[in-house]
Amino acid sequence: MHNTGVCVWTNVCIGLALLFFVTVDADPTKAFNNPLNGRAVDLFLLVDENNSYMSVMQLGLVKTALQNIANELNPVGSTPSFGVFFYGATSSVNIVVPHPTTTASAFKAKLDLKQYSMMQTNPSTLMTALDNVDSACQSGCRPSVPRVTVVFSSVLDLKAQAAIRRLEAGRGMTVIIVGIGSYAGTPILNQLASHPVQHYAIPIGNLFELNVVAAHISSIISDVPRFLETNINAPLVITSMLSGIYYTVQLNTQEYTTTKDVLVMLTTNCPGCSVYGSLSEPNPISANTAANQDRHNFYAAGGFPNSQYYFHIPKGTGRIYLSVLGNGMASANILAYVINLPNMMQVSAANVDASSLSETIG
Ligand SMILES: *[C@@H]1O[C@H](CO)[C@@H](O)[C@H](O)[C@H]1NC(C)=O
Repeated sequence: MHNTGVCVWTNVCIGLALLFFVTVDADPTKAFNNPLNGRAVDLFLLVDENNSYMSVMQLGLVKTALQNIANELNPVGSTPSFGVFFYGATSSVNIVVPHPTTTASAFKAKLDLKQYSMMQTNPSTLMTALDNVDSACQSGCRPSVPRVTVVFSSVLDLKAQAAIRRLEAGRGMTVIIVGIGSYAGTPILNQLASHPVQHYAIPIGNLFELNVVAAHISSIISDVPRFLETNINAPLVITSMLSGIYYTVQLNTQEYTTTKDVLVMLTTNCPGCSVYGSLSEPNPISANTAANQDRHNFYAAGGFPNSQYYFHIPKGTGRIYLSVLGNGMASANILAYVINLPNMMQVSAANVDASSLSETIG
């Protein structure tokens, strides 16, 4: 009995084995709650390295926070892909972790090499960093996977606004802005972050706080819904829908709403599934959104009952978030269509509160 000294109790042996072999830091029950995200994200982390705000020690704090975010987003079975770009000190954008880097351990190996950079003349800007994201995403972002960029900066520049809106419209990117220090809470934060800004603009006092909010940032990232393409004939098929779980997608409505209101029609073959839509909650659930009660049933080929729901989307709306509450049925389908409203039904934009979704039109 050579090992008696260690394994006195069977439970203790198992406990020790787990301690030695479970190396993943992430809490898999926290990140990626939405099954449609498939435990995947295309994530770009942009760090402003302006020497006026970042010392060697502060760089260390940022690196720790970035690593914690990567660990959290890489639970067992996940397929994240990461990119980390530093700007604001070196004259060209410093690609510290090239996208796509697909594991938290590969992320660590690359991030560990990052050293403090002294300011060079004509340092790179947030705009250049965003351009890098755009081209990296064009070649490396996956279809049907949520796309998120997080900017960490103490000197935010409103000039980046146009580049951010282009990333949202062109790549379906959600841009989270973490404003550090005196910039925290200023209007510029809300102007740069993706809508809804109460979720995506994150003000913090200093870089020490960054490690306190890192887990929160990871869970926001993992909750960004993937896009559902509109007006295509192939539905999103959910095989074995879980009961009581929300299946959330977002639609890019920008191209349809530049001059007018539209209707979004959501069709499912699950008549018993509650449906939620919101312009202000990226994860609409019963706790924050009223279910759409105006269900229109119809019978498709084969006699299967289908349900349609309509959402009235005001002019200028970039995105709508839609959730279907699972009921345990196998193979549920979701299809979304954008329908132009006749002119007589247009609502003056001034009368519409864009933060609250107007009720359905039957
Ligand atoms: C760095 O910060 C200083 C002080 O706020 C600012 O004047 C300068 O424009 C910043 N440089 C860059 C490249 O953002």
